[in-house]
Amino acid sequence: MTFSARGLRRTLAPDAVPGAHALHTRIVAKIVDAVGAMKGPAAAASLRASGLEALHTVLDPLDVGPLRDRVLDCLREDLLRFAARIGRTVLGWHDDFYIDDYLILRVNFPYAVARAADGAAENPGIGRLSPSVRAAAAARRVRDPRYDPRGYHRNHPPAAWAHGPHVDSWTGHSKDGINVWWAISDVPADAGMVLYPSVTPTDVACDPRSLYVRSGYALPPPVFVPLAAGELLVFDPELLHGTHLNVSAQTRVAVSLRLNERRPAFDPDCFYAREFWRRASDVVAGRGTVLHLKREEHLAARASAPARPPAAAPTVTVTAGDDATAVALGPASLLAEGERFTAAMGDRRVLVLRTPSGVHAFDAACPHYGIDLSDGGAEGETLACPGCAVGFDVRTGGSSSPCLTLTTYPVREADGTLYLDLVP
Ligand code: FES
Ligand SMILES: [Fe+2]
Repeated sequence: MTFSARGLRRTLAPDAVPGAHALHTRIVAKIVDAVGAMKGPAAAASLRASGLEALHTVLDPLDVGPLRDRVLDCLREDLLRFAARIGRTVLGWHDDFYIDDYLILRVNFPYAVARAADGAAENPGIGRLSPSVRAAAAARRVRDPRYDPRGYHRNHPPAAWAHGPHVDSWTGHSKDGINVWWAISDVPADAGMVLYPSVTPTDVACDPRSLYVRSGYALPPPVFVPLAAGELLVFDPELLHGTHLNVSAQTRVAVSLRLNERRPAFDPDCFYAREFWRRASDVVAGRGTVLHLKREEHLAARASAPARPPAAAPTVTVTAGDDATAVALGPASLLAEGERFTAAMGDRRVLVLRTPSGVHAFDAACPHYGIDLSDGGAEGETLACPGCAVGFDVRTGGSSSPCLTLTTYPVREADGTLYLDLVP
């Protein structure tokens, strides 16, 4: 079975790749052993009984970094060989190809737990390079003064961060890679990856402050990717994708691998690059050679500008006196089903949206990171946040997380005019 790489997104059962079952079992066992070594045999026994989904009950977010060290240092070469097998047997790459030396063990605790983490706990999406190149990578670290992930994440601790929509070349990855996202625990839809498969880099632009999509681009509703433990998602990371904030009650554990059919090349608009790579032939032969592909010597052609500029939902400026309890928004007939606009009243921005059940209004800033909800895709009565894909019921403001609720406002229709009551 082979796939064409561009635009690819396929979920594979564990038996689609030779050796996947056995390696998955070893990864789970290694995580349990590492927990035992760090927290004692009772913690390991509890995890064995409850599954990796209960990892947050036996580990503090601060323990996730040391867990990564133990697991990835031990299984690194096995994971790289597994990636080589995917290239050969799934992707059908017969010539030599490249595998990213940066292996990621993704550990996302439930949001309700992670948001209380110590600020020193690692980001859920952090990986590890081979020990032999860590010093060289540290020496190559560069900064862009515009890049401000803490600002984007509204000062949440890094352990609670979730990726906004992006394509991987915006974040220093090679231009023509293929990603393997391997569910080690069960991954429910409200803790998994989300894809926007109809959106490519030519449709949207990157915000250099976050390296995620700029605000103002209307996104379609996200496609959710629930996976059973052991299943793999193989996809083209130049399709827009992101992370659903883990609003489930369970820890999500996944491994990410990256393959490149050709020599990696990097987006010249990204200030850094993932520069350390292995050749599949070296991996298979047991050679530990890590190539250092310096960003400045491996730049891809600059992408053409997005085909369309951002087109935010229209904004209506509404003047409300200090004591006003309601304001007129305009003729009700101007807002057809599925349409929306933002009512701007001084500092307050309220999103007004007509769904099948009627007209609804709520604060336009997501209660999580403050992302502008007017860019989010709606389906029925649910509006998906364009930041981390949490779905809000526009009738109630509720989401599947008790931590995240929209502030809603009553909307009335009288004599063909829409009125917004300003008392939530
Ligand atoms: S910004 Fe994260 S759910 Fe809205
Ligand atoms: Fe990504």
